Amino acid sequence: MSVFENVIERRQTRSLKWDRLEAVYGVQDSSEILPMWVADMDFAAPDVVIDAMRERLEHGVFGYSFICEGCKDAVRHWLRDRHDWHVDNEWMLFHQGVVPAIASIVETFTEKDDGILITTPVYPPFFQVPGRLERTIVEYEMVEENGRYSIDFIEFEKALQQNVKIFILCHPHNPGGIVWQKEELQKMIELCAKHDVLILSDEIHADLVFPEYRHTSLGAIAGDEADRIITCIAPTKTFNLAGVQASIIVSPNASIREKLEAHALAHGGVSLNSFAAAALKAAYEKGGPWLEELLQVVSANMDYVIQELPKAVPGIKITKPHGTYLLWIDYRDTGLSEEEMMDKLLKKGKLALEPGTKYGEAGRGFLRMNVACPPSTVQDGVNRFIQALN
Ligand SMILES: Cc1ncc(COP(=O)(O)O)c(C=O)c1O
Repeated sequence: MSVFENVIERRQTRSLKWDRLEAVYGVQDSSEILPMWVADMDFAAPDVVIDAMRERLEHGVFGYSFICEGCKDAVRHWLRDRHDWHVDNEWMLFHQGVVPAIASIVETFTEKDDGILITTPVYPPFFQVPGRLERTIVEYEMVEENGRYSIDFIEFEKALQQNVKIFILCHPHNPGGIVWQKEELQKMIELCAKHDVLILSDEIHADLVFPEYRHTSLGAIAGDEADRIITCIAPTKTFNLAGVQASIIVSPNASIREKLEAHALAHGGVSLNSFAAAALKAAYEKGGPWLEELLQVVSANMDYVIQELPKAVPGIKITKPHGTYLLWIDYRDTGLSEEEMMDKLLKKGKLALEPGTKYGEAGRGFLRMNVACPPSTVQDGVNRFIQALN
């Protein structure tokens, strides 16, 4: 049996996904609810990663540590071999996560009230974090056609001119799973250069792209404009290590790195804990084969949902994304409001999906379903959805 078929009990493990349903969904009793919401997987991390962490654990001494060149080499080789992006070890800074990195970047390079451009619907911290830092969110709502999102660059440029200092790009895009194409990326770079805007490219989903598509790192094609790009990557989404916490900020611009380092020092410094460093190094060095298998399982899970759900529930449309393990389900033709839909799913179907408006008003009429789980769990989720709506 494949490791991806193993159903692992996750309740009572302090899992946000499984153990916080009462708080997140306002339900009294969550024991019967199947969670397919927050973006972590129900799979064990690769054995090679667990072994590296076990070795670290068994050493037993957990004093101060530092990020070794071996960790940086592992990241560099991964980016070179998987994404054809050639970076230097010195371009890297490490952080506890991509979201904390976004906060640091926004704080370092913008002032109160400066504009931060986002393309909605989008991952909520893109507007929540800068919003809490009292930056002005400039929202460009993407064009949706037959389940695919695209950018109208005339409108995008108008948005860029609203005192925007940073454009936060989600690449691949969550939700919607768009792997942006080179021409689109080049247009973004050109317009941001024209209006002197920094680009924060969040590429945390970059490894989770199906073989028919290819992720192009923004930094890899930016040429002379590479200095205005700050890329965030992480092994945590790819290898299911969100609770271990680690991310990498990549910038070829020494002045940007110095400012980020100064910001980190002003907040007590940033490093990785011993387990995160061990996990990161092992994942990037040896996790490739596990990832290939994962992508096949996720792709098959998506095909299953796309085949079964619209057939059984009139008004449901699903377009297969280019990557990620997240389905963006269009239920606008059911005529149900978001409240009605969530109520049916939770109470009748005992299924927790994410309501689209969590991703901004542009997400109304959609649900996000996480299919990074064993095929039997996906089947259970589809049955619950059908039951909820019938
Ligand atoms: C686009 C995007 N960025 C960042 C994160 C989370 O990053 P981290 O856990 O490293 O803070 C997620 C998680 O779903 C995400 O989808």
